[in-house]
Amino acid sequence: MSKLIVGNWKLNPLTAKEAVDLASKIQVVSAHTVVLCPPTPFISLVKYPRIGAQDCSPQIKGAYTGQTSPAELASLGVQYCIVGHSERRTLGETDTEIHEKINALLQYKITPILCVGYGTTVELDELEVMDVLKGQLRDSIGESDPKKIAVAYEPVWAIGSKHPATADHAEQVGLYIKTKFGVRQVLYGGSVNSTNAESFLKQQHIDGLLIGGASLLAEDFNKIISL
Ligand code: PGA
Repeated sequence: MSKLIVGNWKLNPLTAKEAVDLASKIQVVSAHTVVLCPPTPFISLVKYPRIGAQDCSPQIKGAYTGQTSPAELASLGVQYCIVGHSERRTLGETDTEIHEKINALLQYKITPILCVGYGTTVELDELEVMDVLKGQLRDSIGESDPKKIAVAYEPVWAIGSKHPATADHAEQVGLYIKTKFGVRQVLYGGSVNSTNAESFLKQQHIDGLLIGGASLLAEDFNKIISL
């Protein structure tokens, strides 16, 4: 079944040449929708059928030094944008700001990839997990149309840790997000690699993957998008 597979390059690589080279090594496949999210300065240089951004401004235009407008991203052909990544939430980003970003993106027909997740340890019980997710989803989605938003479930402890969640757990959370919030597309993210990707892609309520580290390794990423 066709899935949405997103490569989040984060703050990598450091030169335009390396970014262009990396994208040129990623296969174009028809079985899945594959999106590459390079750092903002490289967005217009990287050649790939679908490009995403890693963040955006909630503002469209005006005196907002250093921000990137969804309108500017749309004018470059950007079709997806990650919002609410835990690495931005730790810098103080709130669900209210994330909600404003989602609204701004939808105005420009860019699909927000809303990241939600909990905790820095695995030791939360299931009820606490659902409580944290519930708050993030309720406040970030607000009155926006959940059918136009892809939600990436990324337990914070699983990100870049080599300790992914189990596929069963991801599936349960995927089902919860869809049933409670009317979201249609749920991705899993957190230490996905070419060995474990298939176990997540097999789940009925996991509609894709958000991949950090392994998206920088062309060979591994190509293996994943060829599954
Ligand atoms: P990871 O990152 O695949 O390196 O764990 C995922 C993410 O932060 O989106």
